[in-house]
Amino acid sequence: MEVAGTIEAVRTSVKAARRNGKRIGLVPTMGALHVGHVSLIERAIEQCDFVVVSIFVNPTQFGPGEDFAKYPRPVEADLEICANAGVDLVFNPSPEVMYATESLTWIRVERLTELLCGVSRPGHFRGVTTVCAKLFNIVLPDVAYFGQKDAQQAIVIKRMAADLNMPLEIVVCPTVREPDGLAVSSRNKYLSEQQRKEAAKIYKSLRKCKEMSKAGVTDAKEIIAAMREILEQIAGGEIEYVSVVDSETLEKVDEIKGKVLVAVAIKLGLARLIDNIPV
Ligand code: PAF
Repeated sequence: MEVAGTIEAVRTSVKAARRNGKRIGLVPTMGALHVGHVSLIERAIEQCDFVVVSIFVNPTQFGPGEDFAKYPRPVEADLEICANAGVDLVFNPSPEVMYATESLTWIRVERLTELLCGVSRPGHFRGVTTVCAKLFNIVLPDVAYFGQKDAQQAIVIKRMAADLNMPLEIVVCPTVREPDGLAVSSRNKYLSEQQRKEAAKIYKSLRKCKEMSKAGVTDAKEIIAAMREILEQIAGGEIEYVSVVDSETLEKVDEIKGKVLVAVAIKLGLARLIDNIPV
């Protein structure tokens, strides 16, 4: 496995792979790799011949007072995970390499980024789309892989790629969960033992939603009320949103019909936890 810190090194390796007819897959990450990331890497290895993982804690997607400084950066462990998974190339640039010049150019996807997480994290998606566009331009992948756990991020990136005619496919892989249902996330590390236990109620609320919808309940208000009842039992938790939204426009819907996304964000201790299920 090659580890590259410069854009030139990535371009050289990817160019050679492409010359050999290889299909290039990219898994963009901020490191602190866990089984959720590994599932993306495995999918990329299944579908591509040359797999690149980027590890970069992107400063431009963190707001003031957010966890940029304390975001975990276990680079050695991450490299080992990548090597064991069969990754071909890890791109692990410094902020100076990624943002060599002061950026005057930003990619902002309208509307979709102003809802859900966009309300409490203004500027977050602008940082995500800009860094992803940069990574896509550096690696030139045929396919890039994202997790369903960050559903809004995946929808925003798909829209950016479509709107800007980016020549790549975006694949979204299912959320990986702990045995008690909590979605695997690098930020789960911020939870105390007690908070970690409480956090399982997030998935419990999503399961409740699924059950109600299966039983024929279509009224979004009724479903949200039942979910809130469960989420309010999370000791020390602060509900940011519980929303039933159209899975393309992310606009709130009153009734569950067609494809909707039920999404939740909760602050718990030092962590902000998000989760969702497509219904
Ligand atoms: O999902 C993440 O880890 C990040 O938002 C991403 C897509 C790697 C961009 O920095």
